[in-house]
Amino acid sequence: MTDTLRPRRSALYMPGSNTRALEKAKTLDVDCLILDLEDAVAPDVKQDARQNITAAVKGGGYGDREVVIRVNGMDTPWAGDDLVAAVNAAPDAILIPKVNAPADLERVAQQLKVLDAPKGLELWAMMETPEAMLNAAAIGACGKDAGVNLSCFIMGTNDLAKETGARLLPGRTVMIPWLMTCVAAARAGGIDIIDGVYNNFQDAEGFSAECAQGADMGMDGKTLIHPKQIEACHAAFSPSEDEIAWARRINAAFAEPENAGKGAIQVDGKMVERLHAEMGRRVIAIADAIAARSAV
Ligand code: COA
Ligand code: MG
Repeated sequence: MTDTLRPRRSALYMPGSNTRALEKAKTLDVDCLILDLEDAVAPDVKQDARQNITAAVKGGGYGDREVVIRVNGMDTPWAGDDLVAAVNAAPDAILIPKVNAPADLERVAQQLKVLDAPKGLELWAMMETPEAMLNAAAIGACGKDAGVNLSCFIMGTNDLAKETGARLLPGRTVMIPWLMTCVAAARAGGIDIIDGVYNNFQDAEGFSAECAQGADMGMDGKTLIHPKQIEACHAAFSPSEDEIAWARRINAAFAEPENAGKGAIQVDGKMVERLHAEMGRRVIAIADAIAARSAV
């Protein structure tokens, strides 16, 4: 579980085989980078991609961006070497694909221990198999298991569609039960959750609508496939000026001496409870964290 609040509004994937993208990432205003060894990399260039990613992460230059390496699935021939390379490169987190159950993460945690990985190294889990949807609560609970150090779910909606037969339609009606189940599982485990990708990166309108939907669902951010998606993503997942002002107003109201003993008060004609003040403090903390990183 993460103890410091980090904005995770955007997580841009890039194939480890694409050195231009690995370099370009250093200039992009994005919260997280997912350097991929898995689906975006063809089998015959897996080894090159591993070398590129190791060199890039070791070389640094990514500033405040959270650097995450997505390794190949644990049942593939590449997984062992991927984990060794990832530990050697020392990113912020390793993203495990096709997680089906807590045991999958526990096994990786065990391997990391054998590799003497630093304690602070986080695990992120792709939620993208039918099994994961059925085991979401148990997987999310790994967020409370110090031995696993799980800090984030990434929704893998393309794989989920492939494995279940469910269609990825505008509005994502058929996916909503799984998406919301994973939001609840993440929150119960005290971890973050980042929404799936929007494949048609030329469709700005459809993308914005899906960002807004993810934000309404309670997602912390969205995974992206192209730099042109970053700006709209940040617009959807950053607290607005109005939200920040409202959060400050209700916290100020509860701080008034006459409201000290009250659980519910009236602000601008609306009923607010202490839980709203608490939600407001999270909004303020996220806004402050975003402002702090834009200032760098
Ligand atoms: N990360 C970093 N930079 C990227 C990028 C990415 N995901 N996608 C594109 N760029 C860069 C390009 O290198 C190019 O930079 P340059 O002009 O400075 O050289 C610029 O953005 C414009 O790219 P563009 O020509 O529009 O796209 P492309 O044809 O180079 O790439 C894709 C299109 C879809 C192949 C590419 O965006 C991509 O590989 N996305 C990620 C796919 C992925 O990782 N999928 C796995 C998870 S779903
Ligand atoms: Mg996948």
